[in-house]
This record gives sequence, C-alpha cells and structure tokens, in this order.
Amino acid sequence: MEPYSDQHISDATRRFLARPRRMLIGGEWCEAVDGGTLEVIDPATGAAFTRVPAGGAEDIDRAVAAARRAFESGDWPKMRPVDRERLLLRFADLIEANAQELAEIEALDNGKPVVMARLVDVALVVDFLRYMAGWATKIEGATMDVSVPLMRDRELFGFTRREPVGVVGAIIPWNFPLLMAAWKVAPALASGCTMVLKPAEETPLTALRFAELAKEAGYPAGVFNVVTGHGHTAGAALAGHKGIEKVAFTGSTEIGKLVGKAALDNMTRVSLELGGKSPVIVLDDADPAAAAAGAAQAIFFNQGQVCTAGSRLFVHKSRFDEVVEGLAGIAAGMKLGPGIDPATQVGPLVSAVQQQRVLGYIRSGYEEGARAAAGGEPARVGAGGGYFVQPTVLVDTRDDMKVVREEIFGPVVVAMPYEDLDEVARRANDTPYGLAASIWSNDLSRVHRLIPRIKAGTVWVNCHNILDNAMPFGGYKQSGIGREMGRAVLDLYTESKSVIMAL
Ligand code: NAI
Ligand code: MG
Repeated sequence: MEPYSDQHISDATRRFLARPRRMLIGGEWCEAVDGGTLEVIDPATGAAFTRVPAGGAEDIDRAVAAARRAFESGDWPKMRPVDRERLLLRFADLIEANAQELAEIEALDNGKPVVMARLVDVALVVDFLRYMAGWATKIEGATMDVSVPLMRDRELFGFTRREPVGVVGAIIPWNFPLLMAAWKVAPALASGCTMVLKPAEETPLTALRFAELAKEAGYPAGVFNVVTGHGHTAGAALAGHKGIEKVAFTGSTEIGKLVGKAALDNMTRVSLELGGKSPVIVLDDADPAAAAAGAAQAIFFNQGQVCTAGSRLFVHKSRFDEVVEGLAGIAAGMKLGPGIDPATQVGPLVSAVQQQRVLGYIRSGYEEGARAAAGGEPARVGAGGGYFVQPTVLVDTRDDMKVVREEIFGPVVVAMPYEDLDEVARRANDTPYGLAASIWSNDLSRVHRLIPRIKAGTVWVNCHNILDNAMPFGGYKQSGIGREMGRAVLDLYTESKSVIMAL
C-alpha cells in the first residue's frame, strides 16, 4: 500500500505516515493480539492509504489492566494536582507545536478541510487542554456542620472529598476525532483518572499521534491507552468491561443506548453525547442575508457531520423566499474538494457508508414530495471515487417526512416556513432530540421569551455551532445524558465521598 502522496502534505505528516502505527497499551506500542488490522481510507478518493491494528476484546482487557495498575500504583496516584496541571499544560504545548501536522492527518483521515481542522479542531483542543489543566488544582469538597439527633452529646464534623472516578473507557466518533478525544482525555487526566480511548474505526490516526504526544509529555505508562478497532468488537468490549468505573461515549443515539445499557449492567458511570436534529429559527425581524449566511454555516460546517448541525431551518413566512434563495445561492457556490487542499470549503463525507446513508435520505425526501432548492446529488471531484455530496437545501417538506424527523448527518437542511412563535416553538421541539438550537433576531423580548421554551442543552442567538470551554455542553431528551466541558464535566470524572467524624 502506497502512503498517500500529495503536494499539500508536510514532511512531518509524511514521517508520521511512514512510521508503523501501533496501539499504546501500558506505555508500549503494540499490534492487536490476533494480528488483525483495519484499512484507513482517504474519503477524498476512496483509496486505502494505511492500516492500523484492529484491536479486540483481548486488547481491551490488556489496556484496562494497564490503566488499573497505573491508577493504583506507581507515579500517577502520587502526583499532586499541580503536577497533573503541569503535565496537561505540557501536553497542550506539544499539540500546539504539532498543530499543522495534526490538522493534516485529520484532513486526510476524516476528509474535513485542513484550514478548519487547524483553526477549529486543533485550536479548540489546545485551549481545552489548558482550560482543564487549570481545574486540576481546583477540585474541592466542602465542610458541613452536621446535626444528628441521636448524637447530641458528641461533636461531629463533616466534609466531602472529590476523588477520581477510576479507570475511564472513552468511545468517540469520527466527525471530530481529535476534539472528541480531548473532551474525554483532558477531564479524565485533570481529575487523576486513567483511561482507555477507542477511536472510531473510520478515523483512528490522530488518536495514535495524540498518544505519541502524551508519551512525550511524560504521562506514566498505563495512564493513557489507545486501542484502535471496530465498534462491535473493541467498542462493545470496553463499554461492557467490568474493570472500568466510567464510560464516556459520543456517537449515535442507537449505539449510545447499547453502551448505556452495557454500562448500567456493571453500574459503571456513564455519560452520553448523542445525535441531534437542531432547529435554526429565523424571526421576521432578522436580516435575511445574515440569516442565510448563518444557516449555511450551521448546516454545511464539517459537511454537516456535526451533532449540533442546524438541520431544520424554520423561517418566518414573510422572509422565507428571501432566506432560502440566499442559502441556496451560498450552497451552490461552495467549493468542494479534498480536505487536504487549503482551498476546499466542503470536503467529502467520512465514508462510503455515510455517503450512501445521506443520499438515501435525500432520495426518501424526493419520494415523499420534497424538492431540492440546491444540491441534492452526489458530486464528482477530481478523479472520482470520493464520498462527496453536494450541499443540499430541501423545500416543500412536511413535518412527518423522514428528512425532517431523522438525523441525516450530512450537508442537507430542510427549510420550512412558519407563521407565529407558538407554532415554531412547538415544531422546533417536535423531535426526539434536544441538543441545540439557534434563534436569529434582534428583538430581545421575543428572543428571551423563546429561549426557555426550547428543549435543548444549548441555545445560540445570532450564531450557531459556537462552543466555549467554560460552557457546559450536552443534550436534553435522546441527545444524551450528562454535561461535558465547564465546571460541570468534573462531576462526570469524580466521585463525591462524604466523611463524618465524631470528635
Ligand atoms: P456509531 O455510534 O456507530 O459510532 C460511534 C463510536 O461508537 C465509534 O467509535 C464506534 O466504533 C463505536 N461503536 C459502534 N458500535 C458499538 C458498540 N456496539 N459498542 C460500543 N461502541 C460501538 O456511529 P456511526 O455508525 O459511525 O454513524 C451512524 C450515525 O450516527 C451517523 O449517520 C450519525 O447520524 C450518527 N452519529 C452521530 C455522532 C454525533 O456526534 N452525534 C457522531 C457519529 C455518528
Ligand atoms: Mg455504527
């Protein structure tokens, strides 16, 4: 198999691709126990360009055992909070120093535009590691003056401690591979946990580079382990493992439910970040051009493969034609290309499966009577073979159509007119999901009245897909359980212990 060769790849990336790619278990680089491998495919061409180990249940056992040893003995449990802070800061510095290489690997592996990978994915990872490093020294309990009826004659003193939850199993998706790794790794390592990370089979590469940099940063052997492999083998073995204390999962609602049930069987702590069908709500006072640009960014960023993608656009009927025309114009003018080309605005979807799934949804929309105001077809780019889909705007939909109800996870938005706020609030909430929403208006009173009515973990006003490390992130309803980022994430990676002392 020839390593991928392209004029846009730096020497650092070439060197990474030329090294053998192995999993990191207990500080050692290793192959899968059974010698299995899986192909890594360039979604811009459909060609395999390298392989990684296909770890399975036995590899997960070894990684969990290594993480357990590191959690209970050796240097890691002796580290002071300030030592964990310093390590995470060093890790962040190494990510920053290798930002371009990581962005290129992400672009090759996932297909996303390299400029976005650098300015969004890698930049957010560096900031998040530094943000969480600061929390390592700020994990605290409380003291209580307790009153117990039967012990009136004794003086009592109560306090709580926050302790690391233990060994963490993290299972992450392919849409933001490095960023989703960081969302699990940073709070786990800041809190003193150890972990096993299972990246998605479609995009295993940046997790392996991440592991090299963690080792270089100086994490003791076994603190951070990476097992590459398939979901139904390595992923399932990790989710149901009796040797871990917590599972952190990001991915589809379907698999999230399986992971949640497997975790509950062992009473493993679990947090789930799942799918979405997020509404973009344009009120009648919004500037149509700004709303169209905002709606385009909300759905086409990362080829629409974003859990918070603004995939249902509701525009007040007085502005509907103008906004849809603007959005369709933007969609038609976007430059498709391989992610690794800095001129690309829209890359391929991650896999042939994903391309077929998205095209199947578009077809089902046509069959049920919808019409494409823009796009609606696969796109041929370069020599062909890549998993491209045109940025697509569907109109003439009904609320019961599959394209309106189900998560498409591609560059496809359904645009729908509405008449009044009560109606749009009801329709925006008429979904099993509740991850995010955006409202476009400068009418403060109406915006404030709408915000509490929207059942979603995040509501944006006059922006979409904007994340901040300090803001908790997660879903209502079937979009998940738990909140990542912000102070809230510490609750997911620590246990609270209550201590009562009779003095
Ligand atoms: P998926 O949910 O199957 O994959 C996510 C992760 O779960 C991967 O690491 C995978 O290896 C792992 N996994 C798969 N089966 C597992 C199992 N039985 N036990 C434990 N881990 C398992 O997502 P998939 O199949 O790649 O995409 C299907 C659809 O899911 C997409 O079209 C999209 O609608 C949605 N999705 C949503 C994401 C989000 O961030 N909300 C991310 C990825 C997919
Ligand atoms: Mg799957």
